[in-house]
Amino acid sequence: MSLVSALSNNNIRTSIVILHTTQDPNRFRPDRLRNLMPKPRISQTRPWKDLRAHFDEMSAVHMRDLFASDKKRAERFALSQGEILLDYSKNRITEQTLELLITLAREAGLNQSIKDMFSGEKINRSEGRAALHTALRNTREDAVMFEGEDVMPGIHKVLEQMDAFCQKVRSGEWSGYTGKPIKHIINIGIGGSDLGPQMVIHALKPYWADTLTPHFIANIDAADMQATLAAIDPESSLFIIASKTFTSTETMANALAVREWFLEAPGAQKHDIQKHFVAVSCAADKVAKFGISDENMFEFWDWVGGRYSLWSAIGLPIALMIGMDSFRDLLAGAHQMDRHFHDAPFEQNMPVIMAMLGVWYRDFFDTSSYAILPYDHNLRKLPAYLQQGDMESNGKSVTLDGEPVDYHTGPIIWGAAGANGQHAFYQLIHQGTQLIPADFIAPVESFYFASSKYGDHHTVLLSNCIAQSQALMYGREPRHVEQEFVDQPELIPHRSFAGNRPSNTLLIDKITPHNLGALIALYEHKTFVQGVIWNINSFDQWGVELGKRLSTEIEKELEGERALRKHDASTEALVQHVLDRQEQD
Ligand code: F6P
Repeated sequence: MSLVSALSNNNIRTSIVILHTTQDPNRFRPDRLRNLMPKPRISQTRPWKDLRAHFDEMSAVHMRDLFASDKKRAERFALSQGEILLDYSKNRITEQTLELLITLAREAGLNQSIKDMFSGEKINRSEGRAALHTALRNTREDAVMFEGEDVMPGIHKVLEQMDAFCQKVRSGEWSGYTGKPIKHIINIGIGGSDLGPQMVIHALKPYWADTLTPHFIANIDAADMQATLAAIDPESSLFIIASKTFTSTETMANALAVREWFLEAPGAQKHDIQKHFVAVSCAADKVAKFGISDENMFEFWDWVGGRYSLWSAIGLPIALMIGMDSFRDLLAGAHQMDRHFHDAPFEQNMPVIMAMLGVWYRDFFDTSSYAILPYDHNLRKLPAYLQQGDMESNGKSVTLDGEPVDYHTGPIIWGAAGANGQHAFYQLIHQGTQLIPADFIAPVESFYFASSKYGDHHTVLLSNCIAQSQALMYGREPRHVEQEFVDQPELIPHRSFAGNRPSNTLLIDKITPHNLGALIALYEHKTFVQGVIWNINSFDQWGVELGKRLSTEIEKELEGERALRKHDASTEALVQHVLDRQEQD
């Protein structure tokens, strides 16, 4: 009998005996035992059942009435943290809803789970890893212990290496093989090794060095690579090969192709690779094999998940573009949110509140998607970034103990920058048949055109943002439409809005590195809290593996090798169709 199943059978005494008889005295740790204890199914707990009963009462309540009956509602349901204001009053909640949600969080053991994450427990059980991204932005002096060692000196060492490198590149001291300074920073990576740096670099455009232009190659489609190569020149380009594992097919294929392209440049020699290629990875041996020297390798650690890695050396392209001081501000902002998340009571804890509201809609209102709507052109990559952060983390259907869940877990995360989205998909959010909770995110102050001769775009943008959440909440009652369309009563159903559609609004003083760091950390912790409630592993991603494995087989078949095994009829036919058509060309 395995330890977990022994415990599931409540045969704890037997299990403890097993632990005591082990050779290694360190093996018996009460905290580890606690982690191995299967949690009661959350859907069977008292708070969950209370929430279900409460939902029955709340489902017919309109937010219009909640606002009308409580003049202090906006004040009551708002929180500030640093320079971020969260207004969550436009949610279908009362004080009682919040109390019940917080009780559920306590029932799920959230307090202990937060401590476990920050203290380097191996909470990613299926991979036997910790999730210590918070240590990467720990700006305090205190140690962060992992397996008996303080990880902070290693983190500081890499930050210093990044700092020295950034100074050389940004000052022009680092030159390419023909003596020209670096003008193009090209990140080659995919998933977490692409989305984070891309999102942050775009978000912080006002902080870019004038002399540098960022580029990103991620997709295995050569169109991605070729478009970038057409825009750069080998003499002034710096390639960052970013891959935690240094095995991702897409990244390695692109890196090898770009290396070939570089070596074809007039006068470029093999040893010049050192001037134009650096790597960020956990796999030093593979980096060396690729031909990148130790000095050009920036290390990180396997306790940093790919989608949580922008705070590590994966953030090197960010640091190059905005400078190391600003990169440290980004870390400091995230650290401030970490402290808030760690210390604040749940009732005033921004990530906890946002997470529990998400659970409320996902599991009780049965919503299947969640929209991220930044009203800031530079934040246009945020929805895609949060999509990976949330969907790869919480797209799970078994509990930590491997039991199928009987409730919903992570929603579909999607969105686009406002106001563009208003002219694309908002129609469905306002009048469609689905309830889609949304986060509106906007800076109060813009870097651009603040009262300039070109017109005050930002005021128009902000007014759109605020008006959208108002329209979603309030809707438009038929009796008001009637007054306007006295002669056209047939239009009333089309021009009425039910309203009662929930949203949060996050107003950020300005999109500075510090505030952006805090915003990203806020969403990371929101995702984590939801994972704890659902008792799933938010830090593995086995769902990505199967497709990767099968594609290797199919690739060989498309290259003309005989199939190793028979596939299903559809797969066979698709492979054959490609082969036939290629033969005809
Ligand atoms: O998509 C799966 C995944 O493992 C992500 O979690 C990760 O961010 C991405 O692939 C890239 O992995 P790597 O950095 O190892 O190339």
